Amino acid sequence: MTVPAVLRVSNISKSYHLGGTLGSVLGVTRQNSLTALDCVSLDLRPGEILALVGESGSGKSTLAKILVGSVSASSGELDYRGAALPTKRGKDATRRIQMVFQDPYSSLNPRLTVGAILAELLWLHRIVPRKSLREESIRLLNLVGMQEDALDAYPSQFSGGQRQRIAIARALAVRPDVLIADEPVSALDVSVQATILDLFATLRLELGLSILFVAHNLAVVQHLSQRVAVMYLGRVVEVAETEELFANPRHPYTRALIDSIPRMSAASVNRELVLEGEPPSPFDVPSGCRFHPRCPVAVAACREVDPSLKSVALEHESACLRAFELAEFAPAH
Ligand SMILES: Nc1ncnc2c1ncn2[C@@H]1O[C@H](COP(=O)(O)OP(=O)(O)OP(=O)(O)O)[C@@H](O)[C@H]1O
Ligand code: SF4
Ligand SMILES: [Mg+2]
Repeated sequence: MTVPAVLRVSNISKSYHLGGTLGSVLGVTRQNSLTALDCVSLDLRPGEILALVGESGSGKSTLAKILVGSVSASSGELDYRGAALPTKRGKDATRRIQMVFQDPYSSLNPRLTVGAILAELLWLHRIVPRKSLREESIRLLNLVGMQEDALDAYPSQFSGGQRQRIAIARALAVRPDVLIADEPVSALDVSVQATILDLFATLRLELGLSILFVAHNLAVVQHLSQRVAVMYLGRVVEVAETEELFANPRHPYTRALIDSIPRMSAASVNRELVLEGEPPSPFDVPSGCRFHPRCPVAVAACREVDPSLKSVALEHESACLRAFELAEFAPAH
C-alpha cells in the first residue's frame, strides 16, 4: 500500500534566466537560461528521513528552496498533505516546513542572544503565552542536547556543532512537521558530524518529523536515511530504500557514488565503476541520457533515448536503460 506523502513534488522544473551582466560574466552568449531542475517528482513520507544526494550543481538546493517556498518553481506542483501549496504561502504553511542550512550563521542573528532568538520566534508565531517563553526555550535547547545556560550567550560564543544545534532548535521552535536540511553537516568537523546526524535520527523518532536531508556524499546518509533519492544534472535518476540502494544500485551514477566511498578493504578496486570527467554544464544538457558522456556502461541507444524514472523493483525506481544489466557489473564487496 502506498503511504500518503507529507510533501509531494510533481514534475517540478526550475529555469534561471541569466541576462545582462551575469550572463556576460559567465560567458553566456547564445544560451542564456539554465535548467536547474527538469521535471522532478518525489514524495517525502511521514516520519522518514529521505536523503537527497548528488554532485555540486545537480539541483539539490534549488529543490530544497522550492520546498520551503523561498524560490518558486517555473512549472509543476507541490502538495502538502494532499493540498496544493500556493506560491505565496500563508503563515501556517510557512511554519510547518522549516529549513536548516549548511551555515548556521545564516539563520542566527549574531546581535541577539540565543534566548532572544528563540523567544522572538515563539512570540511571533504565538506558540506559547509570554510567561512561558523561557520555559519553552529551555525545552527546545534540551531537545537538541543543550542546556539552559546557552540562553544568555550569543551565537559567536559557540562551536560550529553547537551553533548547528541552536539553528535546529530555532527551526523546531515553530513546531514544524517537515525539516528540509541542506547539507547541515558539511561545514562541520568530521568528529562533530556524527553527533549532529544522531540528533536528526533522534528528532525523527521523538517528534515524528519528516526530514529531507541533502548531502553531497552517500556515506553520510547510509546509516541515517530510510530512503535515498539520487540527483544528476537536475533530475532524480534513482530512488530506493537505503539498504536496497546500497545492496542493489540500478543506476551507474549511483554505483559510482557507492564505489567511491573509501573502504577498509581494497578487494573491490578492480571492479569499480569509475566516473570520468566533470558534470556537464546545465546550459548544455547532453542529448539522450544526460549521464551518457560520463557513463562507463553507455551504449549507442543512450545518446538517443532520454530515460525516465521507472520502477525496477518494489519501492525502487531508476532512470537507466540498462538498469537490469547492472548486476553484471556488481562490485565484489
Ligand atoms: N539564483 C540562481 N541563478 C542562476 N543560477 C542558479 C541560481 N541558483 C542555482 N543556480 C544554478 O542551478 C544549478 C543547480 O544549483 P543548486 O545550488 O541547486 O545545486 P546543488 O546541487 O545544491 O549544488 P551544491 O552541492 O554545490 O550545493 C547550478 O547550475 C547553479 O549554478
Ligand atoms: S541510460 Fe545508458 S548512459 Fe544512461 S545511465 Fe543507463 S547505461 Fe548509462
Ligand atoms: Mg546546494
